Amino acid sequence: MSQDRTCTHTQLPADKELVLKVMPMPADTNNNGDIFGGWVMAQVDLAGSVLPARRIQGRMATVAVNEFVFKQPVRVGDLLSFFAEVKRVGNTSITVQVEVYAEHIRTQGRYLKVTEASLTYVAIDENGRPRPIPKLPGDAP
Ligand SMILES: CC(C)(COP(=O)(O)OP(=O)(O)OC[C@H]1O[C@@H](n2cnc3c(N)ncnc32)[C@H](O)[C@@H]1OP(=O)(O)O)[C@@H](O)C(=O)NCCC(=O)NCCS
Repeated sequence: MSQDRTCTHTQLPADKELVLKVMPMPADTNNNGDIFGGWVMAQVDLAGSVLPARRIQGRMATVAVNEFVFKQPVRVGDLLSFFAEVKRVGNTSITVQVEVYAEHIRTQGRYLKVTEASLTYVAIDENGRPRPIPKLPGDAP
């Protein structure tokens, strides 16, 4: 039987963009009855790719998970919201911060931060090699 969570409810971040909402299923649990960390990591990788994909416009690959913290367990019945923010745009890579908030399906509107992570994505060409990130209007030449 899984233990109670430290219920420190919090506000959703105003400086990050909501990029994914998903509800884990009982099939996603580990031996403790909580949601398997690898499932959470896969969702974070997907969520983290949303803002870089908008900028990279083409093939890309995850090159690094720089940091990944499971702050609280995720439970069956949680609805997860994934928020992302671009932290760095390099020559060929983009680094993103992702925060995951859980609200129980029966008590929606009360949020608990369960996970935070930093990931880096690389724009790649047809040969799988790094390519420059397309410039935006107003970027330095
Ligand atoms: C992604 C990949 C093409 C990068 O090739 P590479 O030869 O390592 O590329 P480089 O050393 O030129 O680095 C490319 C960019 O990634 C960044 N990078 C490389 N390793 C990194 C790391 N460990 N952490 C953070 N950033 C890293 C570099 O800083 C560089 O960014 P910049 O141009 O903005 O400064 C290659 O490593 C690869 O194919 N990896 C497998 C990807 C994969 O299968 N991902 C899982 C499924 S999507």
